[in-house]
Amino acid sequence: MIINGKKIVLRPVEKEDYFLIFKWFNDKEVIDNIIGFRVNFPKEESLDWCEKAGKSNGKDVKWIIEISGKNPTPIGFVALYNIDPINKNAESGIVIGEKSFWGKGIGKEALTLSCDVGFKYLNLELIYAFILSSNKASLALYKKIGFKEEGILRKRVYRNGIWHNVISLSLSLEEWVI
Ligand SMILES: CC(C)(COP(=O)(O)OP(=O)(O)OC[C@H]1O[C@@H](n2cnc3c(N)ncnc32)[C@H](O)[C@@H]1OP(=O)(O)O)[C@@H](O)C(=O)NCCC(=O)NCCS
Repeated sequence: MIINGKKIVLRPVEKEDYFLIFKWFNDKEVIDNIIGFRVNFPKEESLDWCEKAGKSNGKDVKWIIEISGKNPTPIGFVALYNIDPINKNAESGIVIGEKSFWGKGIGKEALTLSCDVGFKYLNLELIYAFILSSNKASLALYKKIGFKEEGILRKRVYRNGIWHNVISLSLSLEEWVI
């Protein structure tokens, strides 16, 4: 599914995107903000990640975020993971791997579009996210589009010599207005 926004397009992940994923998942400044990843992410795993992301499995939907234009520029990805059709919820994730595009409203547009798909087309009742307490940009982004903080998971991640708390946030269908 291709989704057209104002400044961006969300398109399916392709196998050929693996070199971008490899680049983004090996950028310490990017990866330090993400739970469950480590630097030295191998090229083979990047390829595997893209091949799996490109096939629809009903559980996850991942899109490459591209800046619209004649020559669309891929700058990151946004996803809905662990789609649970019984409990009607899913986990949200977003990475803008091209750091020169941080702080330009792209995250807000991409996250808004992905949540809209989740609520309108995947019939979700709730979308949740887990964010490192140190990740001020991501916390600001999710809260900006209406996610509410629902709890603190203490000391869930040990990284760069210190323990990090993880903040649990969620957005419910009846709170979703765009
Ligand atoms: C987190 C991330 C997706 C944010 O995307 P972005 O495009 O830079 O964010 P936006 O420009 O859309 O900003 C959205 C809101 O968050 C705020 N924000 C953005 N960066 C911020 C920062 N460093 N500190 C505080 N607030 C910030 C903005 O002010 C904006 O609010 P506004 O509309 O009132 O101005 C991006 O920085 C990123 O990919 N980081 C690395 C990976 C990551 O952390 N992923 C999330 C894992 S949970």
